[in-house]
Amino acid sequence: MSVLIKGGRVITAADDYVGDVFVDGERISLIGESLDLQADRVIDAAGKYVLPGCVDPHTHLDMPFGGTVTIDDVQAGQTSAAFGGTTCHVDFIIQPHGSSFADALDEWKAKADGKQVIDMGYHMAVTDLKDGGSLEELASLPEQGITSYKLFMAYKGALMVDDETLFRTMQVAAQTGALVMVHAENGDAIDVLVKEALAAGHTDPHYHALTRPPETEGEATNRAIQLARVAGSPLYVVHVSCRESVEPIARAREAGWNIHGETCTQYFFIDYSYLERPNFEGAKWVYTPPPRPKENQDVLWNAVRTDTLSVISTDHCAFLWDGQKTLGKDDFSKIPNGGPGLENRLQMIHEFGVRAGRISLNRMVELLCTNPAKLFGLYPRKGTVAVGSDADLVIFDPAKELTISAQTHHSKSDYNLFEGTRVTGTPEIVLLRGQVLVENGELQVEPGFGQFVRRAKFGEELKPAATAAA
Ligand code: URP
Ligand code: ZN
Ligand code: ZN
Repeated sequence: MSVLIKGGRVITAADDYVGDVFVDGERISLIGESLDLQADRVIDAAGKYVLPGCVDPHTHLDMPFGGTVTIDDVQAGQTSAAFGGTTCHVDFIIQPHGSSFADALDEWKAKADGKQVIDMGYHMAVTDLKDGGSLEELASLPEQGITSYKLFMAYKGALMVDDETLFRTMQVAAQTGALVMVHAENGDAIDVLVKEALAAGHTDPHYHALTRPPETEGEATNRAIQLARVAGSPLYVVHVSCRESVEPIARAREAGWNIHGETCTQYFFIDYSYLERPNFEGAKWVYTPPPRPKENQDVLWNAVRTDTLSVISTDHCAFLWDGQKTLGKDDFSKIPNGGPGLENRLQMIHEFGVRAGRISLNRMVELLCTNPAKLFGLYPRKGTVAVGSDADLVIFDPAKELTISAQTHHSKSDYNLFEGTRVTGTPEIVLLRGQVLVENGELQVEPGFGQFVRRAKFGEELKPAATAAA
């Protein structure tokens, strides 16, 4: 199957030009001006942007969490991603306590089997190095294409690890070429604050934020940075939400340390006041770190502009409001933490980043496609429009207006974080490895089309020949 995409405005992290893109099979084989080639399918992209398929390095599909399981399984979550122009994501395997990493990997692969709509990789979230996986087993994961380890410094009594586990994992990463990711919050201090709030009779959703102050994020971010320096591993701080954690990352990067940071779409738009909405509506925005005071939003825009933060992900961790969030109706600490977002990242960042003049189109592509692909061992196969890259492409209509809503999104969640937001600009056609994935508002492939991608080690490129479907 060949596809010729004609006359679109091709935008990468570095380039912006009008041209034709020729796709032969799964890859881009030629880019040029007025290409005179026969193709099985010709797409007229005049007036449209031709973007690389977006890469989301932070999602939680079919994940047990907070006494329930996220509502989007692999099929629902990836369908939602596809409609939003995301063609590849990296999901978290959570090592169950007492389980080996191999068993955890098998369990997560079984969840995805036959359901994959887009391409995906996995991070391994390490929870137990005592009774579960060993350091040797952890060290073997990068050879299997699992090239990042995640550690939770919060969620005491559930996913949280102690500093010894964090540090030993960093030491392994320094040896194996894996990237260490941290959820940076001081889980011990938060646990005390949560207990005190509940003892004082404070049960409403906004206490989720009041018991996780920004300083607890700043402290853990700084601790992780310093420990990574000692261990000699690269570090990636996920879902940075506030000035207190932006600042240590900025200092580390100015010093030239191997430290990277991400924020998520919601932190630019949702502030603390959402949690105070009456009748338990605030629970929709109970995710962690929590929505922060509004002044942090400018700090985050500045951080993504200056490359203090290099990626915008979604942290898609969807629940129903009615039936799952309500587990915490009488106790904010029992509200499952997380929200949906996979589908709306590109629309929201295009509208409020690019159209509002905060970032350029090139920078948007860098934050949503190229940098996540580079940091997580997917580049240049993913994350750019180039000869030899996978033909993962978004034909984006910059003039189409729409209103974001749970009525029309593809997540199974019964609410949308950005309900009612008007945007101009949305994906019109999405291709994955040369196949049309989404067109005319319909998914065009059967589940099972998506593939597992064996990612390259940190700092290494993923050449097409070095990859294989599992
Ligand atoms: O609230 C969130 N972010 N849920 C997902 C788990 C995590 O901490 O990333
Ligand atoms: Zn987290
Ligand atoms: Zn997360």
